Amino acid sequence: MERLLSELATLAAGHPTLDWVGPLLRHLPYQAPVPRHLPVCDLIEALPHPPETAPVVTALQDVIPACNWLQSYTQVDGFSQDWLDAYGWINVASPDGPFVSPNTRVAIVYFGVGQHYPPHAHQPEETYVVLAGSARFQAAGRAPITATPGQLIHHAPWQPHAMTMTDQPLLAAAYWRGAGLMDRSRLDVSLEVTS
Ligand SMILES: [Fe+2]
Repeated sequence: MERLLSELATLAAGHPTLDWVGPLLRHLPYQAPVPRHLPVCDLIEALPHPPETAPVVTALQDVIPACNWLQSYTQVDGFSQDWLDAYGWINVASPDGPFVSPNTRVAIVYFGVGQHYPPHAHQPEETYVVLAGSARFQAAGRAPITATPGQLIHHAPWQPHAMTMTDQPLLAAAYWRGAGLMDRSRLDVSLEVTS
C-alpha cells in the first residue's frame, strides 16, 4: 500500500495543478484496511497498463485483495445490479485512512464499459487523473472532454459533473481537498449536458 501511495504522489507531482498533493501525503499514519472484495476487483485485475500510468496501475493491482472496496450507491439510488457489479472505489488516503490525512482524500474509482455516472456535486475541489480506459467528462460551464490515460479533469467545489463511459471502462485517481471530504456526493443536481 505504501508503494501505491508513493506512485499516486509521483503521478500528482508531474502536474503543476496538483502541486499541493505531495506535501499532504508525507508521513501519514497508516491503518490497515479491512479487506472487502467486490465483483469490480476482477475487472481491475484484468486492466492493461497504459505507459502514462503503468506504475500506479500495477501498484494498485498488487494490493487489490488487501483493499476495502466500497460503493457510494445502491439499487435504492436507481442503479441496477449489473451497473453496481462494474463499479467500485477505494480510499488510499483520507480522514478515515488507510493513510490518515485530515486535509486531502486520494481515491481510485472504476466504472464499467457503457456506464453513465449521472450528474452529481460535492463540496471538495476534485481533480481526476485517468489511469486506464477513457470517459467523456461533462461539467457545468464547460464543453465535454474525452480523457485518456494521464489526462486531468478538474471540478470546482459544487460544480455539477457527470461521466459517460463508452467502449472502454474508466479507472481514475481522484484527488480531493477542501471541506466535506467524506460526505456523500449529491445526486439531486442538474447539469445541462452538451453533446
Ligand atoms: Fe466528483
